[in-house]
Amino acid sequence: MTSDTPHGDLRSFGRRRGRKPTSRQAALLRDVLPRVALDLSAPCGGPTARDTQVPSETWLEIGFGGGEHLLWQAERHPAVSFIGCEPFEDGVIKVLDAIEHQRLTNIRVHMGDARDVLRALPDGSLTRAFILFPDPWPKRKQAKRRLVNATTLDLLARAMRPGAILRLATDIGDYARTTLEAIEREPRFVWLAKSPTDWRVRPPDWPETRYEAKAAAAGRQRYYFSFRRL
Ligand SMILES: C[S@@+](CC[C@H](N)C(=O)[O-])C[C@H]1O[C@@H](n2cnc3c(N)ncnc32)[C@H](O)[C@@H]1O
Repeated sequence: MTSDTPHGDLRSFGRRRGRKPTSRQAALLRDVLPRVALDLSAPCGGPTARDTQVPSETWLEIGFGGGEHLLWQAERHPAVSFIGCEPFEDGVIKVLDAIEHQRLTNIRVHMGDARDVLRALPDGSLTRAFILFPDPWPKRKQAKRRLVNATTLDLLARAMRPGAILRLATDIGDYARTTLEAIEREPRFVWLAKSPTDWRVRPPDWPETRYEAKAAAAGRQRYYFSFRRL
């Protein structure tokens, strides 16, 4: 399989666009996105384009989907600077709508591949990172497209500071297994689980996402992992 990007990453996401945006949605993309878009040449320049205060902490969500988790965390942690990455336009529109109507000033958005953000971030700049239910790519031939692999963990380990926490969830047993194997091979991360409850039960400060609700409704086991950057 050939690489899909200049850095050799394989495309890890599905479609970028759903339905044609309504005029109101198009206005959000035109007017709000440029205000809150992450500047990859100065990704830690401030909490948002509107606020120049230097944040004490930066949390990154990779593949925020409809933004349920990103918005929940951003509302509860106003002093934290959030970076949300999502290539799917419809999801980005949902977050832009919430940013605008709830007047959230602590979220910056990258409508694209999170690995480009990880490469641009200064070393040790993240205190938390979230990858919740990455695209499963369940077929054997597609498994190479899974976002969680040695390269992504290397990028995360560099961008996260020692002590930072990486939260990761999946509803695919094989993805859970390959994630733990990759973590095992990456000496800069350690799995924090002490008992099965730690990976079977979602912590209270971790809201349910849309994808997760569908997985639960379909009766699929969900795996919740927390890793510490050493
Ligand atoms: C299965 S969905 C889950 C969405 C959301 N986290 C949830 O739990 O509802 C996976 C999401 O990850 C996004 N994604 C996949 N690869 C990505 C990448 N390299 N950078 C950023 N987002 C990515 C996809 O576009 C998709 O929206």
